[in-house]
Amino acid sequence: MLFLRLVSGVLCLLLALPMSNATPTGCTETGSYGTCDFSSWSPPLVSGDFSTSPCYITLNNVDGTLPANAFSGLSDCADPSGQRSIAITCTGSNVLVIAANAFAGTMTWITELSITDCVISAGISSSDLSGLSGVVDFLTSGGTIASFAATTFSGLPMNSIAMSGTTLTAATFPSGFLENAGSAMTKITLDNLGLTSIPSGAFDGKSAVTALNVANNALTTLETNAFDSMTSLSTLSITGNQWACTCDISYLVKWVKYTGVTLDGDITCMTPTAYNGTLLNKVSFALGCETTTTTASTDDSTWDKALKYGTAVIATLALGVAIATMVSHCCMMQKMAQGGNSPNTSNQKTKNSKRIVTPLPVNEPTRNNFF
Ligand SMILES: *[C@@H]1O[C@H](CO)[C@@H](O)[C@H](O)[C@H]1NC(C)=O
Repeated sequence: MLFLRLVSGVLCLLLALPMSNATPTGCTETGSYGTCDFSSWSPPLVSGDFSTSPCYITLNNVDGTLPANAFSGLSDCADPSGQRSIAITCTGSNVLVIAANAFAGTMTWITELSITDCVISAGISSSDLSGLSGVVDFLTSGGTIASFAATTFSGLPMNSIAMSGTTLTAATFPSGFLENAGSAMTKITLDNLGLTSIPSGAFDGKSAVTALNVANNALTTLETNAFDSMTSLSTLSITGNQWACTCDISYLVKWVKYTGVTLDGDITCMTPTAYNGTLLNKVSFALGCETTTTTASTDDSTWDKALKYGTAVIATLALGVAIATMVSHCCMMQKMAQGGNSPNTSNQKTKNSKRIVTPLPVNEPTRNNFF
């Protein structure tokens, strides 16, 4: 009897031990974290194969195709933090091919997708992320992505896009890429991607964005009033680009001043050659753009108003002087003809010339107080 109990006890122990440590093939598990190795895992991942269904799933050493239904057996997890993520990491700039339906299943609970050091030669197309309809944060670091589709993030409740050091082969993104990512986005980081241009209207509808970072790219110019639709913007980083300091971007100087947006890093010119390495705000006045920007600009800043008002006042006064001079000459000639005393015109002239110069000093302090 005792012997039988002992035998069954040992058997139970032997069976129970591997079961309590159960994780899917090629994976390890720590609390809410499940980490799998691409070279040895056996997708699909299934919640029941973990002792605790993971909230934070990491797939390491990726080199090849993320197959259809790779995560389809996972269901929402118990971690109360509210964040649930999939992190895909390649080593040695290996490739990642996202198969159709790679994220199929009930993955609506995943809130963050991050991709690190992967070469995605096919780009990320409109359907590649389908299944991840709850993703609010998209992150990439290192690696290469050929391109994005205008609809890559369509319908996702995006809060942030944070891409850093990922070569974007296309050197730009489709207009609509950000616009289709939803109106609730608060943070956009496109840092060191090799961007040579930002498409027209790229930031349209991005009125909740408070921080925009397009630093360390190869941008030379911006659309006029490129950031005007970002009415909540408080921090802007466009440093480390190759700005052509012409009138096209000189508006940024007064734009920064009047919006109160904090510039994170300087705006340094690369061209014209004479201004290479010089700060935009130092050359802005020398460019002489302030008097010629009225046509393209819809920005009726105080500066513009002051300038327009000053010009109008000068024009009116000049006309006044002309009339007054004509009138006084006329009267003087009339009086001389009548043999009367020579009229004292100096009083009138002094008064007028003072009013002519008055508007000019109004503009001067504004010019000298950029930034
Ligand atoms: C600007 O200056 C940098 C550093 O001095 C130099 O490497 C670069 O070639 C210059 N670019 C142009 C367009 O002059």
